[in-house]
Amino acid sequence: MTATLNPNKVKLPGIAGGEIPRTFSPALRDARPKVGVEEFLSIAERFGFNPQAMERLAAAVSDSDLPEGGPHLGRYYGSPKPIKGEQFEELALKTFGVKYAFAVSSGTAALHCAMVGAGAAPGTEVICAATGFIATALAAGMAGATPVFCDVDESLQMNPLLLENLITPKTVAIAPTHHWGSVCDMDPILDIARKHGLKVIEDCAQSPGATYKGRLVGSLGDFGCFSISCYKIIGGGEGGMVVTNNE
Ligand SMILES: Cc1ncc(COP(=O)(O)O)c(C=O)c1O
Repeated sequence: MTATLNPNKVKLPGIAGGEIPRTFSPALRDARPKVGVEEFLSIAERFGFNPQAMERLAAAVSDSDLPEGGPHLGRYYGSPKPIKGEQFEELALKTFGVKYAFAVSSGTAALHCAMVGAGAAPGTEVICAATGFIATALAAGMAGATPVFCDVDESLQMNPLLLENLITPKTVAIAPTHHWGSVCDMDPILDIARKHGLKVIEDCAQSPGATYKGRLVGSLGDFGCFSISCYKIIGGGEGGMVVTNNE
């Protein structure tokens, strides 16, 4: 990867040493990724993927279709179309069979978008699972709502039997977390939500690809939220995705 910015060629201490710094330096506007394409692929090789899978990985991370001055995923800067994010959104539309998919910067950002879309705002409440990850409740808080915690059952997922007692006139949404690669019992959660006119925000950050009664999680409620991070089932830098049928 060649630098197109940093015109004064200031020498920076890279984490890998040598002349080419690996770290992103916003101060110098030196737009290099933390891990370059070659470095990423050399890491991928260690997982023993077959040649076809390696080819697809190389195409996915290639920066050849990014504009001069990249690499960036800019949606709003007149980048050549389709940008990587839009290709990813297309794939999500097909995979989940939904009308809308929106790539964002993190799973937390995906949850925040969904919370706002579901009507979370100051004076409202969102029911979150007591076990999962703090980002679900934080996203409710970011939207100005108060998270209300629903305990889990022996499956360690949100216990639908406890839900109705937690619903108040302020409740706007239920946000179950499919956690640890497993899935929540969605039918009773959806039934209760419909009965009370509430939106369902599925936090799928830990269970992308998991199914409930043959349907992919994320496509069952009103919003499906995903995290793309090095700690998750879907890796690849940092990112997130919201899928929904709700304009
Ligand atoms: C269940 C759950 N939701 C949301 C998130 C937040 O995702 P991100 O780190 O991409 O913001 C995580 C991350 O660990 C998670 O485990």
